[in-house]
Amino acid sequence: MKVLIIGSGGREHAIAHKLSMSHKSPEIFAAPGNAGLSKLATCVPIAVDDIDGLLAFALKTQIDLTLVGPELPLVLGVVDRFEAAGLRIFGPNAKAAQFEGSKAFTKDFLNRYHIPTAKSATYTSINEALEGLKAFDYPLVIKADGLAAGKGVIIAETETEAIKTLHDLMEAHVFGAAGSKVVLEAFLKGIEASVLCFVDGVTILPMSPAQDYKKAYDGDLGLNTGGMGTYSPSRVIDEVLMDKIQETILNPFIVGIQKEAIDFKGILFVGLMIDGEDVNVIEYNVRLGDPETEVTLIRMENDLLDVIDAVFNQTLDSVKLTWSRSHAVCVIMASGGYPESYEKGKTIHGLDQLSGDGWVYHCGTRLKESDVVTDGGRVLGVTATGEDLASARAAAYHMVSQITFEGAMFRTDIAKMDV
Ligand code: AMP
Ligand code: GLY
Repeated sequence: MKVLIIGSGGREHAIAHKLSMSHKSPEIFAAPGNAGLSKLATCVPIAVDDIDGLLAFALKTQIDLTLVGPELPLVLGVVDRFEAAGLRIFGPNAKAAQFEGSKAFTKDFLNRYHIPTAKSATYTSINEALEGLKAFDYPLVIKADGLAAGKGVIIAETETEAIKTLHDLMEAHVFGAAGSKVVLEAFLKGIEASVLCFVDGVTILPMSPAQDYKKAYDGDLGLNTGGMGTYSPSRVIDEVLMDKIQETILNPFIVGIQKEAIDFKGILFVGLMIDGEDVNVIEYNVRLGDPETEVTLIRMENDLLDVIDAVFNQTLDSVKLTWSRSHAVCVIMASGGYPESYEKGKTIHGLDQLSGDGWVYHCGTRLKESDVVTDGGRVLGVTATGEDLASARAAAYHMVSQITFEGAMFRTDIAKMDV
């Protein structure tokens, strides 16, 4: 069986690692992949948004199953194109991918199905948006409607900042077309958690929840990033809360997509804000999270390909996901300057002689002759498991301490329990 993974990050490396343990022993391909993936997969230099190139490769190579890592190809309709060509591909089609591709689409859906979420309003005209500011307090969350490479959410502390942000998005178009429509949203306080779910169109099956650390620096300081570290299982979501999430958030999602004939199969990533008993949806993503995947798949006991088959067969209702009792921690090592500007091409030392029980997932690396060099903002997802969170954390940081590259930065407080 030949499986193609689209993407080049730690998430895709973790997927490949999980597939390499499958009883189906798939032959793995990755487009475009990275230095770490090249140990498990044949990497082919096709960009994630080159849908024609991906399709031509999958047809020529007779790929049996394609797994899509990032959101961009999903929003661009890679699933529709592959399916039209008779190929099996795991992920939502373009219509269903709007749950990530358009924040306004998601807010309308959440409100229609009474799924708890922050109060919001959507605007396509700057004058109306400026007028709309009057209905909100500060801090205020301003979101570009479309995909903006993870940068389209701005938290304005003051009215002056909000006005400037609206001008930047809607007039200067700093995020291009993504900012032609904006969502103003009430700020929610609390702790965020990530609930990743398999969806087959009739059943939604949550995985063990994970905690992501989004801010660049220790103590949750600095800019928002794609995620600087994760741990699983979440300490924030216990069984009682998970039941409430299933009832008030996940089940109404299925009711809604069925009513609206949205054929959703693949992964729904529900980003939640939790404040005591209060749980609100902050966002939907239509793919696995990065670095949530690194700490999730490592604890999943099921064969991933079996669960994916159940999604295709619409038999998820008969699947029981089982989780190892271990805890997992992933610490992201990033390039100095991330999430703003950073340099690439720095040689990474220490990967070969690493001592410690864990996995180094490559997020942004490439091979330069025999060296592994940095090739992105997030570079490595250093991941370890342990019988409790403290030992998993210690094991992950033990590995981090042996890896060096110029300008490397990482948070030192991932999974630290007093923060
Ligand atoms: P999103 O792309 O919608 O996930 O937003 C990115 C990040 O912005 C989230 O992970 C939160 O940290 C923050 N955020 C988004 N919406 C809100 C909100 N209503 N209240 C507080 N923080 C938010
Ligand atoms: N770690 C957050 C995300 O994948 O969107």
